[in-house]
Amino acid sequence: MASFSFRMNSHTIIFLIIALPRSMAILDAHYYDQTCPQAENIILETLRNASLYDPKVPARILRMFFHDCFIRGCDASVLLDSTPRNKAEKDGPPNISLRSFYVIDDAKAKLEMACPRTVSCADIIAIAARDVVTMPGGLYWNVLKGRKDGRVSKANETINLPAPSFNVTQLIQSFAKRGLGVKDLVALSGGHAIGFSHCSSFEARLHNFSSAHDIDPTMDSEFALNLRKKCPKPNKDRNAGEFLDSTSSSFDNNYYKRVMAGKGVLGSDQALYGDYRTRWIVEAFAKDGGLFFREFAASMVKLGNVGVIEDGEVRVKCRVVN
Ligand code: HEM
Ligand SMILES: *[C@@H]1O[C@H](CO)[C@@H](O)[C@H](O)[C@H]1NC(C)=O
Ligand SMILES: *[C@@H]1O[C@H](CO)[C@@H](O)[C@H](O)[C@H]1NC(C)=O
Ligand SMILES: *[C@@H]1O[C@H](CO)[C@@H](O)[C@H](O)[C@H]1NC(C)=O
Ligand SMILES: *[C@@H]1O[C@H](CO)[C@@H](O)[C@H](O)[C@H]1NC(C)=O
Ligand SMILES: *[C@@H]1O[C@H](CO)[C@@H](O)[C@H](O)[C@H]1NC(C)=O
Repeated sequence: MASFSFRMNSHTIIFLIIALPRSMAILDAHYYDQTCPQAENIILETLRNASLYDPKVPARILRMFFHDCFIRGCDASVLLDSTPRNKAEKDGPPNISLRSFYVIDDAKAKLEMACPRTVSCADIIAIAARDVVTMPGGLYWNVLKGRKDGRVSKANETINLPAPSFNVTQLIQSFAKRGLGVKDLVALSGGHAIGFSHCSSFEARLHNFSSAHDIDPTMDSEFALNLRKKCPKPNKDRNAGEFLDSTSSSFDNNYYKRVMAGKGVLGSDQALYGDYRTRWIVEAFAKDGGLFFREFAASMVKLGNVGVIEDGEVRVKCRVVN
């Protein structure tokens, strides 16, 4: 915020402050400039190295950020381990691709050596989520920082994540609850430009879909038959599934082209092309990769502002409260 203020007059600044919900802390691109200038380098190097050893890391980190911010705001609640008295978010139902927590732990350990008790776990996730998009696609934005870590994580709250079976009305509502608009929904769904989905997340589209259609009729039929081969019923392989985008190792706008061709893997991906409120945005992003990049970056900054707390702490270990 400080970096933009020189271009604004005092009225603009007052307006912005009033427009922010009261509970929202104000984040800053330069938050660690004095206290931990090497923070972003340490995180990037950790992510680079981890992704070299395990190419699944980038997608998992990006999904982790989404999950964190949608439940209790961006407060690293997703990182807390369960305790004997509390089942944490990461052990709640849609956790099948919530993995690679060790990467955040690695980065945190290095940060604690370089600048103890300074960089919050919530900021590490936000920075890492930018890095994993920059690495395979080149898209870069300044991450705002200064989040505090929360002290609560509850498995039952993951029920508030949007489901892949949601229609556009439900998706819009889910995003609106976090102050995110229709454009944010379509842009952030572009996170599915990388990564993988297990059969369990989309097999309802492939078998006994409805009384009239065995297969979801919005799905390209050749694509559907292919997915059926990968996800037979019954399915013995719990690890089976499909990449969310055919170019899933690079972060680009190909995801939107696939959705336009009836090749969205999740019902929630395909739904974006079936509703007038989102269809035109899908088309615009499919046509113009630069536009998608700009809007994705802007929406990621917005996502990173969701439910930011002021009365939290900077955890020493991301898995446990201090
Ligand atoms: C619009 C609502 C969304 C729904 C319903 C949704 C749902 C899902 C589902 C069901 C999976 C597959 C899980 C599995 O079977 O392993 C998945 C994967 C993924 N999602 Fe989303 N998601 C949504 C939004 C987002 C957003 C906003 C982002 C980030 C910007 C994101 C990033 C990812 C990534 C990167 C993966 C791949 C994870 C991996 O490869 O391990 N998703 N999502
Ligand atoms: C690189 O990643 C591997 C695998 O996670 C890990 O064993 C190793 O310690 C890492 N090296 C550095 C310098 O972080
Ligand atoms: C995921 O959630 C299920 C129950 O919903 C739980 O049994 C499991 O331990 C959780 N963790 C992982 C890593 O799958
Ligand atoms: C989760 O469980 C707690 C009690 O442990 C309850 O207070 C809360 O309302 C529940 N939240 C949801 C979303 O079900
Ligand atoms: C979306 O799903 C909800 C809940 O299943 C349903 O009530 C609603 O009619 C659906 N809306 C559209 C436009 O399909
Ligand atoms: C398909 O779904 C209907 C109800 O929606 C159910 O009665 C039927 O048994 C299902 N068929 C199979 C093969 O699962």
